[in-house]
Amino acid sequence: MRDQGKGINMPEVTPSLEEIYQTRTPQSREFFERGALFTSGPAKGAYFFHPYPLTMAKSESCYLEDVDGRRYLDFANHHTTQILGHNHPSVIEAVQNQLQQGIALGAPTGIETKLAEEMCRRVSTLDRIRFVNSGTEATLHSIRLARGFSKKSKIAKFEGGYHGSHDVVEVSVAPPLNQAGPSKTPFSVPNAGGISPNAINEVLVLPYNDEEAVEKLIKEHCHELSCVIFDPKAGLLPIRPEFASFVRDITRQNNLLLIFDEIVGFRVGTGGLQEKYGIDPDLTCFGKIIGGGFPVGAFGGRADLMDLLDNSKGPTGFFQSGSFSAHPITMAAGLATLQQLTPEAFDHLNKLGDYLSSNLNKMFSEENFPAQSVNLGSVFSIYFTDKKLRNYRDLTQTDKGLANKLFLGLLEEGYFLSYTLTMCCLSLPMEIFQIDGLIKAIQKTIKKI
Ligand SMILES: Cc1ncc(COP(=O)(O)O)c(C=O)c1O
Repeated sequence: MRDQGKGINMPEVTPSLEEIYQTRTPQSREFFERGALFTSGPAKGAYFFHPYPLTMAKSESCYLEDVDGRRYLDFANHHTTQILGHNHPSVIEAVQNQLQQGIALGAPTGIETKLAEEMCRRVSTLDRIRFVNSGTEATLHSIRLARGFSKKSKIAKFEGGYHGSHDVVEVSVAPPLNQAGPSKTPFSVPNAGGISPNAINEVLVLPYNDEEAVEKLIKEHCHELSCVIFDPKAGLLPIRPEFASFVRDITRQNNLLLIFDEIVGFRVGTGGLQEKYGIDPDLTCFGKIIGGGFPVGAFGGRADLMDLLDNSKGPTGFFQSGSFSAHPITMAAGLATLQQLTPEAFDHLNKLGDYLSSNLNKMFSEENFPAQSVNLGSVFSIYFTDKKLRNYRDLTQTDKGLANKLFLGLLEEGYFLSYTLTMCCLSLPMEIFQIDGLIKAIQKTIKKI
C-alpha cells in the first residue's frame, strides 16, 4: 500500500480471517451482543465460536442463510440431525397434518406406536422402545434401568465418550491430560463444575481401542459394575469393528449390560451402527435424526429389561416419564424422516461420505499438509495432525487453532461446518459436485492458513 500524501511505501496488511468474518457479519454480531444482555452465554454452548456465532435466518434443502443474507452449504446439519436437509416436503407435510389434529393432547395419539414399530422393525435388538426428549434423557434412563436391573450402581464409560449432560456421563468427556492419569487406567475426571462427587466415584473410565486395558479393568471391577455405556464416536474417532465386538463379548462374559449409544451412529444405515458392527447390545440409545429436527431421544432393547418400565399390569418399582415425551409433532416428523431413509438413501449418503474423506486425505497428502479426515458414513471430522488417532488422548494432540482458521476460511467460501470441524455431516440432497466444491474450498483455504 502506498501512502499517497507522503509517497512512503507502507507494508501490505492482510486482514485476518477473523477480521474478514467480522466485516461480513455485522448483524450476527448485533444479535449476539443483544443476546448477551438477556441469556447466560448468549448462544447455547454448542453454538458458540470466537468471536461470535452466526445468527441464521432461514434454511432450505442443504443451504442456510444468515441474518446478513449470506448463503452457506450446510455441513453441520443441526448437530447431525437434519439428515434429509432442511424443510423436506414430506416432513413439513407430516408436521402440518399433525398440527391440524392438535399440538399436545395429553394422551397417546397412536403416532408414537407407528414410530416405535418402525424403529423395532429396523433395529433387530429392539423388542421395545420408549421415547424421551433428548439423547441425554435416553442415556440417563437406560443407565438407571441397567442399575435397577443389576442392583449394582457403578457404570463404565470410555474416556472422551459423550452421552449428554447428566452427572455420571459428564465424567471424563474431555479431561485435561494432566488430570487424566495413566492411559491404561484413566482417572475419573468431572467435565463441569457442580457434578456430584458421588457421580465421579461411580464411573470406571476405559480407554478406546485397547482390548488389553479394557479387559483388565472390567475383570477387576465387574463385581460392582452394572453396565458399560459405549459411545462409538461415529465419524469422530476410528473405532475398529473388532474392538466393538470385543466390548460386546467382554461385557457378556462378565455379566454386564451393554448400552450402545446410537444417537449419532444411527445415521449410517437402516439397522444402525450395531448392524454394521454386527453386535447386539442389551439397550440402545437414540436421538437426533429420529425426531426429524424436533427435540427427541429414545431408548430400547431387550423385552425383559424394557418391560420393567411397564406398570400397566402392576407396579414394577421402575418408572420413567416426561411431559413432552413422545410428542406427536416430533413423532410425526420422525416417522416421515425414517420413511425417506431407505437403504438406497443410506447408500447415497455413505458413498458420498467415503468419497469426501478419501479425497480429502488424498489432497492433504498431495499438498504435504499434516491433516486428516475421519469418517463413518456421512459423518466426518477433519483433524490437523498426521499421527494415527486411536483414542481420546490422541485427539487432544491435534491443532485446534488451525481447525478454527479453516472453519472461518470456509465460511468465507460459503461452507458451514461444525466450528471444531468434528462431527460434521452430509445431508441427503447433496450431490458429488457439492462435495467436490468443499474439497476445493478446503484446498484453497489451507494454502492461506
Ligand atoms: C453420542 C451422543 N450421545 C448423546 C448425546 C446427547 O444428546 P442430546 O444433545 O440430545 O441430549 C449426543 C449429543 O450430541 C451425542 O453425540
